[in-house]
Amino acid sequence: MLNSFKDFYETIIVDHHQPVEIKTVEDFKKTNVSYEQRIINENWTFDTKPRDATGHEAAPNNRFVFEYLILERRLSGYKGMDYWDFIRHIVNSRENTRILSVGSGPCAVEMEIAEKFTKPYVIDCLDLNENLIKDATRRAQERGLNLKPMVANLNETVFTEKYDLVIICAALHHFVELEAVLDRIHDALNDNGMFVTYEPVMRSGMFLFPATRVFLGLLFLLLPSRLRINHQDYPGEKRVDRYYNEYDRSGWTFECIRSGDIPELLTKHFKTIHYGRGMTFLRRVSDSIYGCNYRMETERDRRIVKALCWTDRFMRAARLLRPEGLFFIGSRKDRPAPI
Ligand SMILES: C[S@@+](CC[C@H](N)C(=O)[O-])C[C@H]1O[C@@H](n2cnc3c(N)ncnc32)[C@H](O)[C@@H]1O
Repeated sequence: MLNSFKDFYETIIVDHHQPVEIKTVEDFKKTNVSYEQRIINENWTFDTKPRDATGHEAAPNNRFVFEYLILERRLSGYKGMDYWDFIRHIVNSRENTRILSVGSGPCAVEMEIAEKFTKPYVIDCLDLNENLIKDATRRAQERGLNLKPMVANLNETVFTEKYDLVIICAALHHFVELEAVLDRIHDALNDNGMFVTYEPVMRSGMFLFPATRVFLGLLFLLLPSRLRINHQDYPGEKRVDRYYNEYDRSGWTFECIRSGDIPELLTKHFKTIHYGRGMTFLRRVSDSIYGCNYRMETERDRRIVKALCWTDRFMRAARLLRPEGLFFIGSRKDRPAPI
């Protein structure tokens, strides 16, 4: 009993955070893993992720992830449009749209969006990972889509062109030189250009906000052990976690390296058109760590998932927990908002 209290105190009440606060590439010198090594690790991580035929990361046996995705997309939307719908809406309501997608990886999201464009467009797709970009180039050609993939490190890239839209899906949280990156994106926008991004914005290192840690700690005490099997963090083993397995996920790559700084920096660097608050804790129980534990063919697990989704909505609406996701639309600071 005493041990359980001690465990709860040390895991849930004591705060956990990035051991070294990272703000610039220089700060990596204070960590065990250099910037150069992180680039290698980052590329390896994305090279080895299982993907489906379109290049999307595959989530085998994880039907929960699709429920949560739909939930979050819709609830953080702009006038009922999620990231995908909004970009299509803008492109299809103009004559010719020049788009830059940053951290596009396999460009699966860009291709999914572009398949429904009805007006002329071009998407310059930029990513650090050469293998992903090569694959994307081949797929885009096969599908007849006007994507121009290119390899570059955004921490060091200066854009020479101007764009109507700059878009980033789930990649801003991998950039270190955020202030410089956002400045360059701002300068790459046409006078009426918009920056559209859909991002995880959890605490840097993917750590939990203290209130979310307590909530999740209590939730994990209620969840049966079969829903606490960790499918990701212990290679070759399916261990049952007592509590959500929280550790520094920015420790050896750029994962969530400065995710906690994103909301404030976005509103500082751009005129805000839309600030759509995403889920609060739901991703923590539905993603690749625990998500495939839920057997959606059973009434019992469908009920649990519905209760979790409802609770997340409530926490978000009542502002009891901070959102860990954001759908942001911004425009140039020095021009009137285009919409
Ligand atoms: C989580 S993935 C997102 C990929 C894609 N946007 C999607 O939604 O599937 C993050 C991407 O950021 C890229 N990335 C990380 N650091 C980068 C950098 N410094 N410059 C350019 N791309 C980078 C990675 O190679 C990876 O493809």
